[in-house]
Amino acid sequence: MPQLTVPQFVAKKKTGEKLTVLTAYDYTMARLVDACGIEAILVGDSLSMVVQGHTNTLPVSLDEMIYHAEMVGRAVEHALVIVDMPFPSYHLGAAKAIENAGRILKETRCQAVKLEGGADQAETIRALVTAGIPVMAHVGLRPQSVHQMGGYRVQRDRQQLLADAIAAEAAGAFAVVLECVPSEIARAISERVAIPTIGIGAGTDCDGQVLVVNDVLGITCGYVPRFVKPYADLKSVISQAVTTYRDEVRSGAFPAEEHAYD
Ligand code: KIV
Ligand code: NA
Repeated sequence: MPQLTVPQFVAKKKTGEKLTVLTAYDYTMARLVDACGIEAILVGDSLSMVVQGHTNTLPVSLDEMIYHAEMVGRAVEHALVIVDMPFPSYHLGAAKAIENAGRILKETRCQAVKLEGGADQAETIRALVTAGIPVMAHVGLRPQSVHQMGGYRVQRDRQQLLADAIAAEAAGAFAVVLECVPSEIARAISERVAIPTIGIGAGTDCDGQVLVVNDVLGITCGYVPRFVKPYADLKSVISQAVTTYRDEVRSGAFPAEEHAYD
């Protein structure tokens, strides 16, 4: 099965197939996730928090995003790979945004970028798309604007949310993430735009869903939002494995003969 292309990803909205998207930040996890057969893998700037341990997504640099996107790009054979443009790599004018998104496409094997914004970023989206760079937009809760929003909150401005998604589509975005948006508004947006809507905390009527892989696997350190469903408890699995290893090293049970050389 060849790698999914941007047009194939978009076309799934027409056929009514739900799109499954998950983040990944390194080679091993990207291989494991890709082998499961999902439509897209996002190298999210959430890596600032879940990999680097920062309290928000602002600190991660473009070079660091590229470093992780390279690892994921090397691993993935089937899914479309999308890379977040970090703050403020697309806020300094269209030329700079093209230069930075261009680096992501040139230096990694990933196929598309994502940026936070709708109507306010329409010009930048259009410039990137004109340069041949596929762009996923991200409206609703925009974590890079955490200081302006005064925290992570559900976004309820129906007119603004609709206007943002419509503007993103008009500017040429191939899809749009809807983050922390009431289900009814997400449904209205999904009906109104022809591009796929990918929800996170946006209800079941989006064209697809995205989650952070650490949350899905149950290895998140700290706060887990309401919109997350942990499908595994890897934290317990890891804890069990590591404490048993520790105990066996202490008791001499490990290594056994089969782990040693004559
Ligand atoms: O950075 C990220 O992981 C994201 C998604 C969860 C949408 O932007
Ligand atoms: Na992000």
